[in-house]
Amino acid sequence: MKIALIGYGKMGKAIERVARERGHEVVLIVDENNRRAVTDEALRQAEVAIEFSVPGAAAGNYEWCFRNGIPVVSGTTGWSEREEEVARLREKHDGGFFYASNFSLGVNLFFHLNRWLARLMAGAGGYDVSIEEIHHAHKLDAPGGTAITLARDVIANDPRYTSWKLRGDSPLSGDELPVTALREGEVTGIHRVKHASTLDEIQISHTAYSRDGFALGAVIAAEFMSGKRGTYGMSDLITIGNEKI
Ligand SMILES: NC(=O)c1ccc[n+]([C@@H]2O[C@H](COP(=O)([O-])OP(=O)(O)OC[C@H]3O[C@@H](n4cnc5c(N)ncnc54)[C@H](OP(=O)(O)O)[C@@H]3O)[C@@H](O)[C@H]2O)c1
Repeated sequence: MKIALIGYGKMGKAIERVARERGHEVVLIVDENNRRAVTDEALRQAEVAIEFSVPGAAAGNYEWCFRNGIPVVSGTTGWSEREEEVARLREKHDGGFFYASNFSLGVNLFFHLNRWLARLMAGAGGYDVSIEEIHHAHKLDAPGGTAITLARDVIANDPRYTSWKLRGDSPLSGDELPVTALREGEVTGIHRVKHASTLDEIQISHTAYSRDGFALGAVIAAEFMSGKRGTYGMSDLITIGNEKI
């Protein structure tokens, strides 16, 4: 498969290596330096684009791919305020879009566990939920997209919560789920969901050891997206038994 890489930072480079290991050809590499110089024709050499760039560039890159009929797989986080606009652009051009705030299989199993635990604990009562994420100091968005997905999933499964709030912003009200975002050294990604009562605490956590798990998920998503239109996510890729996760 011929792949265009849009964004060639830590993730772009990991994806390039994994894509080559799986027998794919990287026909175009785009980063901030050459983005304006790359032509539509160059993009159309690819069968699929994989986009891991920066929050401010993602939506423009998606439109570029939609307009050129190239399905795009993206993991860039921090652009959620433009979700509706991106959905409209995809529809307008009938583009192919695969998005995941986290491409690791382990994290997607963790999402599943988080939803299940939130339902169980909401039924039990007496436990307050909080989320903590730790990432490397270069990460631009806080909280990250994975923590936002975890928070949204708790809110959808526990009626006590109606929104989430970054801890430290301002005092929390009872229906706000607190999210803490810490930035330390070169941490690839740690996420913890804590259910605490006055008597005890239940905690689930996920620790990524390297970026390779995200890169492999993105390349498998690109294989899935070749020739496709429409909107897809990890639940279209991963099933456990008969259940989509
Ligand atoms: N979904 C997931 O599983 C997952 C996993 C890890 C990371 N992420 C997210 O993926 C994104 C990238 O992460 P990273 O660690 O690779 O970041 P990074 O090392 O900072 O790389 C960002 C890349 O984007 C490029 N870029 C900047 N503006 C651009 C533009 N207008 N068009 C194209 N490329 C542009 C940068 O180019 P220059 O080098 O020229 O500045 C750089 O190559 C972040 O949003 C991160 O949160 C997602």
